[in-house]
Amino acid sequence: MKREQWGSRSGFILSAVGSAIGLGNIWRFPYMAYDNGGGAFLIPYFFALLTAGIPILILEFGIGHKMKGSAPLTFARLNKNWEWLGWWQLAISFVISVYYVVIIGWAFNYIWFSLSQSWGANTIVFFTENFLGLTGSPFDFDGIRMPIVFTVLIVWSINFIVLYSGVKKGIEVSNKIFMPILIIILLILLIRSVTLPGASKGLELLFKPDFSRILDAGVWVAAYGQIFFSLSIAFGIMICYSSYLPKKSDIVNNAFITGFVNCGFSLLSGITVFGIIGFMMHQSGGELPAKLSGVFLAFATLPEAVNQLPVMKTVVGILFFISIVCAGMSSEISISETVVSGIMDKFNLSRKKVVIGYCLTAGLLSLVFTTGSGLLILDIVDHFINNFNIVFAGLIEVILLGWFFNLNSVKDHIHPISDFNVGVWWNFCIKILTPIILGITAVQNFIGDIKTPYGDYSFTTLACFGWGVWVSAIVLSLILSLIKWKKPIIITN
Ligand code: PHE
Repeated sequence: MKREQWGSRSGFILSAVGSAIGLGNIWRFPYMAYDNGGGAFLIPYFFALLTAGIPILILEFGIGHKMKGSAPLTFARLNKNWEWLGWWQLAISFVISVYYVVIIGWAFNYIWFSLSQSWGANTIVFFTENFLGLTGSPFDFDGIRMPIVFTVLIVWSINFIVLYSGVKKGIEVSNKIFMPILIIILLILLIRSVTLPGASKGLELLFKPDFSRILDAGVWVAAYGQIFFSLSIAFGIMICYSSYLPKKSDIVNNAFITGFVNCGFSLLSGITVFGIIGFMMHQSGGELPAKLSGVFLAFATLPEAVNQLPVMKTVVGILFFISIVCAGMSSEISISETVVSGIMDKFNLSRKKVVIGYCLTAGLLSLVFTTGSGLLILDIVDHFINNFNIVFAGLIEVILLGWFFNLNSVKDHIHPISDFNVGVWWNFCIKILTPIILGITAVQNFIGDIKTPYGDYSFTTLACFGWGVWVSAIVLSLILSLIKWKKPIIITN
């Protein structure tokens, strides 16, 4: 079977950008910047982009393209003992794909609520009690919530159709629809936001630099963490997407474009979000809204801002939640495709069979997140995925490729096909700088979580949904890497 291919360069770039731009740009970046030194945060952030984000994108695009395989196949082709790392990255993607859909589902519900602002005056109570039916403990499920199941089913159906249709007819086409819509909506919301009374106050909060924070190691760790999550690196995604590139494809330039577009989008959404926060402060006599990031920013604070708008409440509400859907869907598609392509490669199965199996399994598992304790479980799983899996999987990737592999062979592969070459700075970033920073982050996160267990959750809860998921992902990856390939993995041209 010949490997599928993108139909155009723009299709690939839009899909890579589509994966990168996600909920993290909308609700994670603005708060990160605000909380870590405002304008001064941009220095570590762009440093992280140039020293880790783009170099690793070049690396992942390079090896995916050279080895023409999903993450497990690519790593197995690089070194047969490394296959498990590919599976680990896929396991992480699988877990994220299971809860990410639910958030997109909520956004669908909220498009509907926007029609009449049915969230009422107390948006937090509406979100947690009326909508989610949030219980007090992760084990107190209290049944599934039908309105959420319904929208989650819509998200799975879209995902299914896209994946089933394949790389060119499904993924590429969907991103060519989602991305332009997303960018147009963002621009409309941006203009609306900065023209609201008080917006400048919010922008001041976001951008006023506190240079003293630059000396704080935590700020650098936050910047690197944000870059990894935001660029979808170390999840196997970019390896998988670049494996569908035709032979002659620019690698270096594509990586720069993807990195810059993603970060440009983050900056614009930061301005939009903080313009709105400034407006809310203006309305309340200077009081900062209670929730400035994460699900509560999107599903409680923004609805509250919509309530206060002088005109066009409904339109702004609908546009905002459509933007969450477009940003989320394109990321969800990329995480799911990564898993699908890994299984197709390993077991030599057809796309159709794997997509059906994947959507049914992951779909059933996502029902857990539609129960009354869904948000609590999501909170724990997400914390552990971000703090451990991504950081450790990224760290191992740069150590293996930087120290136990000839990085220059990747350069030899990408230079003849790229517009411009990468210098020794690239080797330095992959081999030395990124491992040091990720190493510090990993140790810090590990000690932090051992010393102060996350949230107010019990030991059993964290062992089950946190550490348990982490360890199971690793064990599963090892087992999968021991299974024999259904076809020879020697690369054929
Ligand atoms: N990069 C996406 C974001 O910023 C999130 C994402 C994570 C997408 C993992 C795919 C895989 O939200």
